[in-house]
Amino acid sequence: DWTMDAYRDEAIRKIREQVGDRKVICGLSGGVDSSVAAVLLHEAIGDQLTCVFVDHGLLRLNEAEEVTTLFRDHYNIPLIHADESDLFLGELEGVSDPEQKRKIIGKLFIDVFQKHANDIEGAEFLAQGTLYPDVIESVSFSGGPSVTIKSHHNVGGLPEKMGLKLVEPLRELFKDEVRALGRELGLPDSFIGRHPFPGPGLAIRCPGEITRDKLDILRKADAVYIDQIRKHGLYDEIWQAFAAILPMRTVGVMGDGRTYDYALGLRAVTSVDGMTADYYPFSHDFLGETSTRIINEVKGINRVFYDCTSKPPGTIELE
Ligand code: XMP
Repeated sequence: DWTMDAYRDEAIRKIREQVGDRKVICGLSGGVDSSVAAVLLHEAIGDQLTCVFVDHGLLRLNEAEEVTTLFRDHYNIPLIHADESDLFLGELEGVSDPEQKRKIIGKLFIDVFQKHANDIEGAEFLAQGTLYPDVIESVSFSGGPSVTIKSHHNVGGLPEKMGLKLVEPLRELFKDEVRALGRELGLPDSFIGRHPFPGPGLAIRCPGEITRDKLDILRKADAVYIDQIRKHGLYDEIWQAFAAILPMRTVGVMGDGRTYDYALGLRAVTSVDGMTADYYPFSHDFLGETSTRIINEVKGINRVFYDCTSKPPGTIELE
């Protein structure tokens, strides 16, 4: 009989066999895959594991605290919180081209990860939350024709560059199995059921130039939007939902005064794998109420749009 319980014990045994008494570094993003990998590794090898969490300043409201609290305080996993927001936001200043942004973030991410990983003396392994579909994809697409829509954020090539061996404890699992394993390991549902969040973070939800001011507004607005979705019991029906701050300001009226503030775009889609997606058909009541709440609660937004573009022709993210 195949159960997650047995799978977990087997996975722990395999990790111990591969790693022995040597040290492992794991990049932690706060996403489901890396979170499950980290907790599984910690169960297997305890403090031989150190996690590196790169904070690029493009995370959601309270996200860095949530990750450090859960992993460092709750699980007692040795964790390096690399707060590099000044570096990332500095390099991104004045940059508005989407590909340029992705390249800057991707390169800095690798540099920063490497810098902090080098501080972990004697580490011999790098752990990654690679899933079975990632394994399949990289095999079946290699050599075939490819069209690059967006340069994806990944740390491929990093292990060789750093002279580390790979540990991939989730290599045989599909996403729903990773979630089941995460539950088995006691990870909170709020982490396990989370919508996907892209590596470049809020940068690609802030088309045009990124400023701290815009990021602050976006974080608050996104939190209100997600709160609305949760309150209406819609979170688990939706594959991914987020707000984006649009690169324009428009005129509005509030009380007796004129406003000239940013416009916000709301996105929500259903999907099976993110390759294609349908926009989510919210009720007009929901949209109206959400728009009112955001404008009342978030200073700097005076207009809200709902994006009813499916994929294709739109992509899920705005950049
Ligand atoms: P798009 O916008 O291409 O997104 O329709 C499809 C899915 O991929 C996520 N996404 C990323 N994930 N690094 C990631 O880890 C990235 O650079 C990246 N870009 C997009 C996106 O959030 C959606 O779930």
